[in-house]
Amino acid sequence: MSVLDLKNVTYTYRNAPKAAVSDISYAFEEGKVYAVVGPSGSGKSTLLSLLAGLDLPTQGEVCFDGESLEGLDLDRYRRECISMIFQAFHLFPLLTVAENVCFPMELCGVHPKDARPRAEALLEGVGITKEQMNRYPSKLSGGERQRVAIARSLASSARVILADEPTGNLDSENTDNIIEILVSLAHKKGYCVIIVTHDSEVAEAADVALRMRDGELRAV
Ligand SMILES: Nc1ncnc2c1ncn2[C@@H]1O[C@H](COP(=O)(O)OP(=O)(O)OP(=O)(O)O)[C@@H](O)[C@H]1O
Ligand SMILES: [Mg+2]
Repeated sequence: MSVLDLKNVTYTYRNAPKAAVSDISYAFEEGKVYAVVGPSGSGKSTLLSLLAGLDLPTQGEVCFDGESLEGLDLDRYRRECISMIFQAFHLFPLLTVAENVCFPMELCGVHPKDARPRAEALLEGVGITKEQMNRYPSKLSGGERQRVAIARSLASSARVILADEPTGNLDSENTDNIIEILVSLAHKKGYCVIIVTHDSEVAEAADVALRMRDGELRAV
C-alpha cells in the first residue's frame, strides 16, 4: 500500500511565472528506495518540501496513509511521520552527537533516561563509536556527520525518510556507505526512502528512478 500519495499536485511560488511542480500524480510505497533526478531548477526540492508538509500544494493534494495533509496537524506530521536528511546535515553544533539523536525523541515525549540508550543503539547501527558520540558534530568527518544525521532521522516514529542530496558532500566510499544504509532501511525495516540526487550511483542503487523536468515527474 502507498504511504505517500500525490494527486494532481501543482505548486506555484508566489509571483512565479510558472509552476515549480506541475500536476504530479504518484504513489510512494513503503519498503522501497526512490531516487529523484533532474536538472537544477526542475522542482526536486519543491517536491520534497510538499512531501514533508513544509508547503501545501496550490492545487491537488498530498495524502499520508490516505489522509490529505491539509486536514492534518502539520507540525505533528513533520515531527512524527516523516524525517528529513539534508546535504548540509543540519546537526545542532552545540549538542554532542548523542544529544543530537536524543533531541527528536525528547520532542516526542521520550524520557531522557530512555532516549540515551536508544540513541546509542541507533548510532552504533550506522557505525558511530561510543567515543565519537560524545564529540561535537564539528569534530567528525563529513561521512560521519551524515551517518549521525541518518541515525537522528531514525529516532522518531517516522516511516518515511526524505533526503535532499544526502551524498552531495561525500566522497565515493562514504557515498557507498550511506547508500547501503538507506537501502537496508527500506528493504529490511520497511521505510519508504525518497532521495533527491545528482549522483548516478545513488540513482542506480534505488528501486525506482524518477526524473523531474520542468516540474513534471516521469519514470526514468
Ligand atoms: N522560494 C522560492 N520562491 C520563488 N521561486 C522559487 C523558490 N524556490 C525555488 N523556486 C523556483 O522553483 C523552481 C524549482 O526549484 P527547486 O528548488 O525545487 O529546484 P531543484 O530541482 O531542487 O534544483 P537544484 O537541483 O538546483 O537544487 C526553480 O525555478 C526555482 O527558481
Ligand atoms: Mg534542490
